[in-house]
Amino acid sequence: MYTPEMLEAIKVVEKTRERRLKETFPRLKPEEKDQLLRSFHPDYMAGAMRPVKVGPNKGDRMPHEHVDLLESRSMLDPDTFSLDKIDFDVDVLVIGGGGAGTSAALLAQEAGAKVLLATKLRHGDANTMMAEGGIQAADKENDSPAIHYLDVMGGGGFHNIPELVAALVKDAPICIQWLESLGCMFSKFPDGTMNTIHGGGTSRKRMHFAHDYSGAEIMRTLRDEARNRGIQVIEFSPAVELILDESGQCAGAVLYNLETEQYLVVRAKTVIIATGGSGRLHIAGSPTTNHYGATADGLVMAYRAGAKLIFLDATQFHPTGVAFPEQIVGQLVTEKVRGLGAQLVNADGEQFIYPLETRDAVSSAIIRECRERRKGITTPSGMTGVWLDSPMIEIIHGKGTIEKELPAMFRQYKRFDINMAEQPILIYPTLHYQNGGILINDRAETAIPNLYVAGEASGGVHGRNRLMGNSLLDIIVFGRRAGKNAAERAKSVQLGKLSLAHVKRFHEELQKEGLGQNVAPILLPDYRGKVS
Ligand code: FUM
Repeated sequence: MYTPEMLEAIKVVEKTRERRLKETFPRLKPEEKDQLLRSFHPDYMAGAMRPVKVGPNKGDRMPHEHVDLLESRSMLDPDTFSLDKIDFDVDVLVIGGGGAGTSAALLAQEAGAKVLLATKLRHGDANTMMAEGGIQAADKENDSPAIHYLDVMGGGGFHNIPELVAALVKDAPICIQWLESLGCMFSKFPDGTMNTIHGGGTSRKRMHFAHDYSGAEIMRTLRDEARNRGIQVIEFSPAVELILDESGQCAGAVLYNLETEQYLVVRAKTVIIATGGSGRLHIAGSPTTNHYGATADGLVMAYRAGAKLIFLDATQFHPTGVAFPEQIVGQLVTEKVRGLGAQLVNADGEQFIYPLETRDAVSSAIIRECRERRKGITTPSGMTGVWLDSPMIEIIHGKGTIEKELPAMFRQYKRFDINMAEQPILIYPTLHYQNGGILINDRAETAIPNLYVAGEASGGVHGRNRLMGNSLLDIIVFGRRAGKNAAERAKSVQLGKLSLAHVKRFHEELQKEGLGQNVAPILLPDYRGKVS
């Protein structure tokens, strides 16, 4: 429930609404956007990053939170840990039970591989499940993969790896058809055609969605399919180290059963990392939209094995994280709210940014509004935010639209006695996505033979800033590619003796630099002593 002061502040928003309904805020020119990012985006904040001192990216600047993990030692002592007893022997090991991992497992099995999917928590406990807004695909008459390609490149600041973007946009329509064929219930018009809307930085309405729980619907579909097909899944068993063989090929992984605290050795002809991102590292001290398992485990393991990382110095802050009520600070308010017409408004009831600029720009503008211009609204706990004028949606599209189109969001606020169909909601940027990750090619291969990566753990396709709806797309496109290619390759792989020599070498490098006091992957965030 809003405080009396906040209710007073809302009156200012209501006063300007009628005028704003007719007002389109001008789009940023490229040089204005560049200046805005450099001045206010957290990536550019002084002291936010440092160069990593060891490994394939030695000398590259990254957020301290990533460097801390990459400069940590393994849970395993490579001198004493025995790889003699093999607990699972498979063709394809998939590490991660979100959308990318499950898509990979399905395609690998279809290609004839014996597959094991190992996941840290339960199957489906992943950012996929929490994705709200939708999935992009250029499958309407006024659109094409070429137009989608240009949007993706523009969103990423033209830093994206072209071959990855080409794969993403070309496979997109097939992926939507595949998901539908498996039973995914996308939102449709009464005549059966797909309902699609804009997201930030899109030049066509190509965001397919299932109300505002698109990720949950996609994950449900994929998990059901994996269960129906009898794919072997082991839960509560995160991978803690990759295994290579004597010739340096990836040859499996060591899992750690969180319940029994036992290690399990998996020998696999090919391995797919689909461990997701790193929101739970709380980069720049930010709250996050991410699930508890998003702790960069895949990056840590692949890095020790010699894989190169890309664009880790580009973190995505979603412009609209909850700023009030306190109980849900940092949770996602889907971009679909802006896609349906809600404007961002400051304490004076004025717009200060075109609502569907790319996320990096919108987040920076909100930070500027609150920090420099002091036009934010302060909450009882001292947080600042700006208004997202959600009632505009009801005026534009008719009464009841919010409850129909954004049922999860509507209920989330209702629990706190806030009716977002009648009252604006207070928001502030929140840590959302790891734009970069492990470098892959368009077959989802890394530079390490037999090692594949799919989804948020990978890097390159989104450049320095991902567009809405291209994450759900990325996990399906590259999950499918990784699964198919890993299964094909497994048919001809001959593995040698299993080894953790790469871990030993990494430990020696750490020691030379006087590093390695901490252990990673951390597997779960540690909030002890941090919550007042
Ligand atoms: O705003 C959202 O619904 C988030 C979508 C995404 O990150 O793709």
